Amino acid sequence: MKILVTGGIGLIGSACCELFLNEGHEVISVDNNTRKVLFGKDADNKLNIEESGISNNKKLELIDGDIRDKDTMANIIKKVDAVVHLAAQPSHPKSLEIPIEDFQINAFGTLQLLELTRQLNPNIPFAFMSTNKVYGDYPNYFNYKVVGKRYENTAYDSFNEELPVDRCGHTPFGVSKLAADVYAQEYAINYRLKTATFRGGCLTGKNSRAVELHGYLPYIIKCALIKKKYFMYGGGYRVRDQIHSFDVATAIYEFIKKPKPNSLGVYGKTYNLGGERKNSVSIFETVDAIKAKTSMKLDYEEAPDRESDHIWWISDMSKFRTDYRSWTITKDLDYIFNEIIEYYINELKLDIALKNRDYFKKRIK
Ligand SMILES: NC(=O)c1ccc[n+]([C@@H]2O[C@H](COP(=O)([O-])OP(=O)(O)OC[C@H]3O[C@@H](n4cnc5c(N)ncnc54)[C@H](O)[C@@H]3O)[C@@H](O)[C@H]2O)c1
Repeated sequence: MKILVTGGIGLIGSACCELFLNEGHEVISVDNNTRKVLFGKDADNKLNIEESGISNNKKLELIDGDIRDKDTMANIIKKVDAVVHLAAQPSHPKSLEIPIEDFQINAFGTLQLLELTRQLNPNIPFAFMSTNKVYGDYPNYFNYKVVGKRYENTAYDSFNEELPVDRCGHTPFGVSKLAADVYAQEYAINYRLKTATFRGGCLTGKNSRAVELHGYLPYIIKCALIKKKYFMYGGGYRVRDQIHSFDVATAIYEFIKKPKPNSLGVYGKTYNLGGERKNSVSIFETVDAIKAKTSMKLDYEEAPDRESDHIWWISDMSKFRTDYRSWTITKDLDYIFNEIIEYYINELKLDIALKNRDYFKKRIK
């Protein structure tokens, strides 16, 4: 296959490029490193491809372009066998500062790619990376109790795709992604495109180029290692499930190899995508894990809630697992923490030893 990956130098994009090349496919990446423009030099994605060891791969074409450039994208879409659309303004707090640009990239950019696919190449699979922020702050409308160092939802073990997407607060990011998510569904219903939307939880890994406004787990680890004060918005009992970029890439790959329609033959399925309960961790547990692994104690200050942030999110992936039975999560929390800690120690040349590598394995039931 020849596969278009938008946002191909990003966290998930670089993992997809690497996986697809390893599987023998050709890849065209379109990414203009908007991440650096939005979040500054610490968010620069330029090293991700180089560090993945694929920059000289003859089957990889890297295009420094904007997904909103119609002519560029038309020329690519007409010659590929699949679209993996990952490019985005990815931060919900950032979207409050730049709602128009957020809309243009996330909503309009996606709509135009769908429309070009409809006009030029309507039979190919189109994977869209959406977000669990499409559910807005609906998860916060449930009851939670403190159990140990985390919140637990008193009614649900995890959230599936049945959660409502409206009548709650979103931030412009949640709205622009929801618009794109629903457009992807509509293009399947109205035009029979083979779309799917993946509603990601916390997607993570060493290529995150994390900053305060995006990439929570690597950012908190970085703060602890470089002794930077961390602002704990909404307190430390909050829970997120973590999924490694490699496992995100394999899930997307399963879909583009074999898109699954519903029982009426219509594509456009929505899938929650996250680390599930086993890979869930609270902020306080994260602080403890970093200390156990590195002896570094995080300097933090509790801060008020950020707009529409989830108190608690754990993904229920039964729907995806039913459609793709051989897919599985290969990277547990222990692996994820070690990879990110090791990466920062090397990248920032820190004199810190990583120890006690089994910390999380012992805790996961
Ligand atoms: N990281 C997470 O926790 C998370 C969670 C849920 C959903 N997602 C979604 O996953 C996808 C990938 O995110 P990521 O974590 O890899 O973030 P990322 O910022 O590393 O990757 C996104 C890439 O898109 C590029 N980009 C942005 N606007 C562009 C434009 N107009 N033209 C071309 N390229 C552009 C950026 O430069 C960046 O490299 C995004 O759609 C994001 O919304 C991420």
